[in-house]
Amino acid sequence: MKKPLEGPAPGYICSDFAVAKRGAMQIRDAIEADIDEITAIYNEVLTHSTAIYNNTPATREDRLAWWRARRDQGYPVVVATNNGRIAGFASFGDFRPWPGYRFTVEGTIHIHADTRGQGVGTELLKHIIERARTLGKHTMIAGVDSENAASLRFLERFGFERAGHLREVGFKFERFLDLVFLQYWITSRVR
Ligand SMILES: CC(C)(COP(=O)(O)OP(=O)(O)OC[C@H]1O[C@@H](n2cnc3c(N)ncnc32)[C@H](O)[C@@H]1OP(=O)(O)O)[C@@H](O)C(=O)NCCC(=O)NCCS
Repeated sequence: MKKPLEGPAPGYICSDFAVAKRGAMQIRDAIEADIDEITAIYNEVLTHSTAIYNNTPATREDRLAWWRARRDQGYPVVVATNNGRIAGFASFGDFRPWPGYRFTVEGTIHIHADTRGQGVGTELLKHIIERARTLGKHTMIAGVDSENAASLRFLERFGFERAGHLREVGFKFERFLDLVFLQYWITSRVR
């Protein structure tokens, strides 16, 4: 069992992108009071896109259980806030739940529809990569629907590399979907 996180990590102020120009953006660990806004962002993405392979909106309790499980495993859930509102959230967890995968995590990131394309995702991703590095992780995986061009471009621009394309493994909106795996090296490749 991994050691749970001990309280929130210190937040930091970002100042180098559009959202910050209208008010300082802060990245900090999520707290229970954030769950409603996290749930709303998650459900907007779930309802309007194939970024999440699920048709059923999450309840507050679902997202609370997810947040608690991440914390119990020692993994962070972080939020970016802008003028007191949550602009996006990010996290990572085990890629696969077996000991041999312990140096590999899978990331997740969702930005509020009103705040996309303003650098929030990039700042959140930088933050969780550093958190994963602190936890001794070697590589981060992202699983992205093959039609999610914005997310693919976002991740590749950041430095993720395409590592696999699984055909018709997902099903949503009455059709099969392809999942693209991408990989980021947190520490240098050994081979
Ligand atoms: C994908 C997502 C996380 C990106 O976060 P973001 O804050 O919007 O992205 P950023 O502003 O940091 O953009 C960084 C780069 O990503 C790419 N990008 C971001 N949004 C894009 C879009 N709508 N179309 C094409 N490229 C896009 C661009 O290359 C951009 O850099 P540039 O503007 O200098 O060209 C966010 O748009 C989002 O939450 N989308 C909906 C949910 C989702 O798809 N989540 C990911 C599931 S795997």
